[in-house]
Amino acid sequence: MLNIVIFGAPGSGKGTQSERIVAKYGINHISTGDVLRAEIKAGTELGVTAKGYIDQGQLLPDELIIDILANTLDSFKESKGVIFDGFPRTIAQAEALKKMLAERGQEVSIMLDLDVPEDELMTRLIKRGLESGRADDNEETIKKRLVVYHSQTAPLIEWYKNDGKYQHIHGSGTMEGIFAEIAEAIDKI
Ligand code: AP5
Ligand code: MG
Repeated sequence: MLNIVIFGAPGSGKGTQSERIVAKYGINHISTGDVLRAEIKAGTELGVTAKGYIDQGQLLPDELIIDILANTLDSFKESKGVIFDGFPRTIAQAEALKKMLAERGQEVSIMLDLDVPEDELMTRLIKRGLESGRADDNEETIKKRLVVYHSQTAPLIEWYKNDGKYQHIHGSGTMEGIFAEIAEAIDKI
């Protein structure tokens, strides 16, 4: 089983590179952000709750996200592996993931940290906001998402270093060049 955590700030390319990883390695992909946006679109109760947090650039409560993750993981029983995109985002979520995988006789294989300078993150997300209209891709909300990333999510870098799973990836440059670095790291596992 190949269990990959793809990690990085908002706009670092987690979704973009996940697509390439799925195509090459044939594993399942779960993006908690995509799950929540689908719930918002469908107008579910969870979607209504999620919208309140996402529009403010804040994280949803850990318990809610961990439940979503556990349900999705159960639906992937026959899979060759999973790429976790946008999860974990807090230490509590990382601990929950470790426990969930251990209960299934598995572990995280590698954590890929897409490292991108802050001005480039902002440029990418403003551009996407204009093109695709994602509700949280406006300057004010992007700034809040970056603050949340630094305070609540970035501490996971040390957490995964201590867990022996951390891999730095240069997240700026061409999408193909970045993917080549990712594939090299995965192939070494
Ligand atoms: P989520 O959907 O996970 O958003 P995010 O982390 O802010 O990241 P993005 O999806 O915006 O960026 P990405 O890293 O996937 O980059 P992408 O490939 O799209 O979460 C949204 C919200 O949901 C959160 O704020 C929170 O409220 C909630 N949530 C989600 N998970 C949660 C959790 N676990 N706990 C609590 N709450 C949670 O690329 C970005 C842009 O850049 C694209 O336009 C792309 O084309 C472009 N691009 C990519 N690579 C390159 C490159 N190399 N060069 C130039 N442009 C590039
Ligand atoms: Mg994404």
